[in-house]
Amino acid sequence: MPTYCVIGTNRGLGLEFVRQLAASPDNIVIATVRPDADRTDLEKVASPTTHILECDTASVQSVHIFSNQVARNVLNGADGPSTTKIDYLIVNAGVNGSPKDQDSLALNPVLLSEQIAVNVVGPAKVLEFLVDRKALSPSVRVINMSSGLGSLALSADMSPRKSVGYSLSKAALNMLTVHQGHDIRARGLAQAVVIAMDPGWVKTRMGGEGALLEPDVSIAGMLKVLHGLKDEDNVSFYTSDGARKPW
Ligand SMILES: NC(=O)c1ccc[n+]([C@@H]2O[C@H](COP(=O)([O-])OP(=O)(O)OC[C@H]3O[C@@H](n4cnc5c(N)ncnc54)[C@H](OP(=O)(O)O)[C@@H]3O)[C@@H](O)[C@H]2O)c1
Repeated sequence: MPTYCVIGTNRGLGLEFVRQLAASPDNIVIATVRPDADRTDLEKVASPTTHILECDTASVQSVHIFSNQVARNVLNGADGPSTTKIDYLIVNAGVNGSPKDQDSLALNPVLLSEQIAVNVVGPAKVLEFLVDRKALSPSVRVINMSSGLGSLALSADMSPRKSVGYSLSKAALNMLTVHQGHDIRARGLAQAVVIAMDPGWVKTRMGGEGALLEPDVSIAGMLKVLHGLKDEDNVSFYTSDGARKPW
């Protein structure tokens, strides 16, 4: 049974990931929520092999507790060591607190810090602690949920420019992806593949009603990319329709 771990799943894209993955009885799904999140929608789509755990990616301590719980309670079970490992890790949780019209000459440092904490430090610690707990398969596939706004190449020609703090945080997440893809292999996970993903502009609370894509279309596309990843795709930036995105 393939084991999936999706971070940030009570609504939006994360919820749709769980809905599609939990529809197959062959999948083990580890789905995380913040401690005080409303789990109503998630519990409706969860299967008997879905494990809902708490993880606030803005808190290093919370991510640490989560990684310990995964290793002890889900992967190893109550009766000692098992060979179960996470095959697919989708680090989806993210925030966009940037006012759309804020530019780089009026950065709000508090908002930027919050976005760096959730969009960069959180994904870094999720992977770090799961590697430390030996919770990942040697050929684990990891998606860091980025954004087109994180692309330096595309941003150079973007007009009007928007959401500066968010785009800074997603550009940093892209760079984190480059480092993680190399570092994880150096730690013995020799066939691991780490990519950044742009889900497209999707109708969620973050994307808004005017967005172009329905969540089911974006998620189906991302799962197709995820399942098709080859070892040589390590350290790349994809869109949900399977195209490569420039860094
Ligand atoms: N929708 C789009 O068009 C779009 C485009 C490009 C990139 N993205 C990226 O795709 C990802 C998902 O976006 P979305 O559209 O589904 O956004 P969303 O509707 O705002 O959902 C965000 C999810 O992240 C969770 N989250 C936020 N802060 C968290 C934290 N500190 N710890 C754990 N979970 C946290 C939220 O949980 P709570 O309910 O507890 O807040 C929620 O489940 C994000 O990384 C976003 O940047 C989205």
